[in-house]
Amino acid sequence: MHLLIPAAGSGRRMGSSRNKLLLPLLGQSVIAWTLRAAQAAASIEWIGIIGQPHDWQDFKQIVAELGLEGKVQFIQGGATRQASVYCGLQGLPADAKHVLIHDGARCLATPDLFERCGAMLEVCKGLIAAVPVKDTIKIVDPATQIIEQTPDRSNLWAAQTPQGFDVETLRHCHQEGRRLGWEVTDDAALFEQCGLPVKIVMGEDTNLKVTTPVDLTIAEFILKYRAELLAESQNP
Ligand code: CTP
Ligand code: MG
Repeated sequence: MHLLIPAAGSGRRMGSSRNKLLLPLLGQSVIAWTLRAAQAAASIEWIGIIGQPHDWQDFKQIVAELGLEGKVQFIQGGATRQASVYCGLQGLPADAKHVLIHDGARCLATPDLFERCGAMLEVCKGLIAAVPVKDTIKIVDPATQIIEQTPDRSNLWAAQTPQGFDVETLRHCHQEGRRLGWEVTDDAALFEQCGLPVKIVMGEDTNLKVTTPVDLTIAEFILKYRAELLAESQNP
């Protein structure tokens, strides 16, 4: 399985002076946790990190510390996530048939989630990890701030990554997106706009996207909790 990790953002909503993926989280960087989960997923044999040149040095050091040099390639990203994934698709090895795309900022995804998404790609051409929404969602008129509609919550899912695709089909969808000027925030949306089916794989409630400072605090809490559970299971 080939894995692309979009990591070329700036982390504007984090309010930090550097890429949020390089911020510390329980003794490691955010992206190191993401890479560790990918490393522990046995089916992933190639990882493309899509980044900006000013982060190369830090990324390379993290990859070296994890002993991942043989598996990782660096690919220069673009101005938006969509542009970065497009660049990533150009950087895939020629023999790549399937690809998982996983945001560097989702540093709590488990190896099991990567494996379940990879397995599902054997039987479909497009999938995303997602979870049923817990909140009631409102559609709001941006001008008046008045609610227009309350969609039936039982049909609503919150999109996560990994998202997985047949490489040729996803390349085609990205090309269509560029040709027609579509602006989307995930790759599934390009598939959908091309009229192609995208399957849901049950995601994880803990698979949050580190976006604002409070997410770092929550992520630290979850990682500590996991470490405690592991320690308990090793010394019952
Ligand atoms: N990303 C990317 N290329 C971009 C923008 C984002 O590869 N030009 C990546 C980010 O590094 C992140 C993932 O896409 O891993 C999801 O994006 P997001 O959480 O929005 O990260 P940022 O764009 O860095 O954050 P912000 O939107 O707050 O600036
Ligand atoms: Mg962004």
